[in-house]
Amino acid sequence: MLNSRRCWRSLEKLRPSLEVRKPSTFLQGFCNSTLKASETGRFAGKVVVITGGASGIGEATTRLFVSHGAHVVIADIDQDRGQKLSDELGTSNSCFLKCDVTKEKDVAALVDQTMLDKGKLDIYFSNAGFVGALGAIDKLQMEDFDATLAVNLRGTVLGFKHAARVMKPMRRGVIVCTGSSASKLAGFGPHTYCISKTALEGLVKSTALELRDFGIRVNMVSPDATATPLFSRVLENSKRMQVSLKETKEYLTNRSLLPGRALTDMDVANAVLFLGSDEAGYISGHNLLLDAARTVSMPYPEGYKHWFFGHSEMLK
Ligand SMILES: NC(=O)c1ccc[n+]([C@@H]2O[C@H](COP(=O)([O-])OP(=O)(O)OC[C@H]3O[C@@H](n4cnc5c(N)ncnc54)[C@H](O)[C@@H]3O)[C@@H](O)[C@H]2O)c1
Repeated sequence: MLNSRRCWRSLEKLRPSLEVRKPSTFLQGFCNSTLKASETGRFAGKVVVITGGASGIGEATTRLFVSHGAHVVIADIDQDRGQKLSDELGTSNSCFLKCDVTKEKDVAALVDQTMLDKGKLDIYFSNAGFVGALGAIDKLQMEDFDATLAVNLRGTVLGFKHAARVMKPMRRGVIVCTGSSASKLAGFGPHTYCISKTALEGLVKSTALELRDFGIRVNMVSPDATATPLFSRVLENSKRMQVSLKETKEYLTNRSLLPGRALTDMDVANAVLFLGSDEAGYISGHNLLLDAARTVSMPYPEGYKHWFFGHSEMLK
């Protein structure tokens, strides 16, 4: 592990354009550098930053990485939830840092604080996101458009930028972001959401190309509808009533493409874990879809299953 002070001095050199301050003075939450990292597990000794780590997919991914021995820095705007999760997981396995991914000083400080406390950053998972602006294109409120892209796109670009800043000199690292089925097909979210997730695919490809020379892999996971607080809010908005996470799970299970098996936040977490692992060591620039083949085709045309999958008359 790098000496903290030496590490901080090298960070000052790496980030000359930004004001460098002692992180504890401008970040709420803390990572205690004296705490011992987990010593067992597949990811023992690995340091992972997860934005939007306090809820849903981010929370599941945090839990999974910790269960495999990693130390996870939970970065989120939701201080109560993030701190509670870290307290539950234990401060030797995780810590919470309040961070608004739309703000460059927050994201820069998140990465700097991680380097200061842990001396390295192995995996950066840019996951914070929301549905954002709704409505028809001719009614689109541009301030809503800007606010949506600020989190879903700018927040991810900032994460990539600052993760790469510290990973490049180490000549290794893994960056993953959360896309969506909306990165592939229209109709899986409102216009701005679709734009933001499609743009992430370009970001992943473009940066994977640059960063491979530095031993850094860049990928994205693109889940279909997943039972999380985000999707409960989608249902609440359309039904105009409160929808619990349990009801959201039931709703998605009843509509799942795989019989009786909905996509779960843990499925997405497992995909991120794989992309972060050495087993995925040659995979970069990839958009890993978790959609049970939803986006590989249009819905079956009438009779299609019968023509092609039902019998083998055509062999005769
Ligand atoms: N749930 C789904 O159906 C689904 C499907 C495809 C993709 N996704 C994507 O998965 C990601 C996670 O979503 P989720 O479903 O787990 O939602 P969620 O609402 O449960 O969690 C999102 C987390 O991001 C945090 N966050 C929001 N804005 C932030 C900001 N500016 N800075 C820092 N943190 C911020 C929230 O506080 C929350 O903890 C998002 O990028 C979303 O677009 C979700």
